[in-house]
Amino acid sequence: MVKKILLLSCFLFSLFIAKGQQVSQQDKRGLKDYYRGFFPIGVAVSPGALKVGDEAELIKKQFSSLTAENVMKPQPIHPKEKEFNWGPADQIVEFGMTNNMKVRGHTLCWHNQTPDWFFEGEDGKPAGKEVVLQRLKTHIEAVVGRYQGKVYAWDVVNEAIVDAPGETIYRNTNWYKIVGEEYVANAFEYAHAADPDALLFYNDYNTIFPGKRERIFQLVKGLLDKGVPIHGIGMQGHWSVTTPIAAELENTITKFASLGLTVQLTELDISIHDKGESRRELTASDTTTFTAEKEQKQADQYALIMEILRKNKKNISGVTFWNISDRHSWLDNFPVKGRKDYPLLFDQNLQPKKAYWRVVDF
Ligand code: GLA
Repeated sequence: MVKKILLLSCFLFSLFIAKGQQVSQQDKRGLKDYYRGFFPIGVAVSPGALKVGDEAELIKKQFSSLTAENVMKPQPIHPKEKEFNWGPADQIVEFGMTNNMKVRGHTLCWHNQTPDWFFEGEDGKPAGKEVVLQRLKTHIEAVVGRYQGKVYAWDVVNEAIVDAPGETIYRNTNWYKIVGEEYVANAFEYAHAADPDALLFYNDYNTIFPGKRERIFQLVKGLLDKGVPIHGIGMQGHWSVTTPIAAELENTITKFASLGLTVQLTELDISIHDKGESRRELTASDTTTFTAEKEQKQADQYALIMEILRKNKKNISGVTFWNISDRHSWLDNFPVKGRKDYPLLFDQNLQPKKAYWRVVDF
């Protein structure tokens, strides 16, 4: 009798699995379709992923918005003062236009991936404030101007705020050292002049932590009080299976939206590793396997985050995943060199993971 019951349950279970696989293969809908009534679902890409192939097909099926993972950043797009490298960024914009997708611009003013020439004066001395501001203006006018009417939103300033409280809320970058805090307002003014219709964002990480959240809030409030054109706050969202907790996420969205601004999740991925580690080499004790337990925790975390975002849809105008699938993520090498991560909704074969099905199940 027990054996019969066991056999019957095995049979029913395999029918269930087979049905699930059938559904997944036949499912013509992608994330963008499930989320049509909520917000666009985007993905950060490099031009290589857009060539004919399985990644390009997946992108077209699943996503309704694109961000350039790297090629619009100052270093790749403006490597020398008189030299722009438009080709790779053009390919992404072109793919977006052809496939009826939104394109977000990332990023105009940052302390990383920005060439030294922006800050160099004569005789190896730092350039003066006026020169640096003029360079920033020329850069923003050229990049925003080129994609006017095609790129609907820009991350104008990325990561200007310190992680730990200090004398000032500003990160001590070349921008800050040479220009002072007004470089932030200037960047927004230049971007607005170059495309008055583009939505302009301040973008940062660790937004869910109360201290950083407050500092970002103060920065943006100060800009609004001065009449600076800023329309949204980007929460990067490089999170883990344990952070954020629901209340932190919801409080942050509510606080930022209380400024009358729209909020976007601009760089979402859920690492299976703990956050807060420093850069280091891989050691023998590092786990690099995607265990069933991690898979479950990740699915729960994605389900929770997306539920909060749906609930707050009036304040959320976009969610962008940072990379396409677990085949490649920037977290494969960061902060631990050579440590594999599995932070996205699609596995290395581009198949939807458990987390995917939880994200579309509502
Ligand atoms: C930050 C930047 C992104 C990207 C990630 C790492 O979040 O905003 O452009 O460089 O780091 O991939």
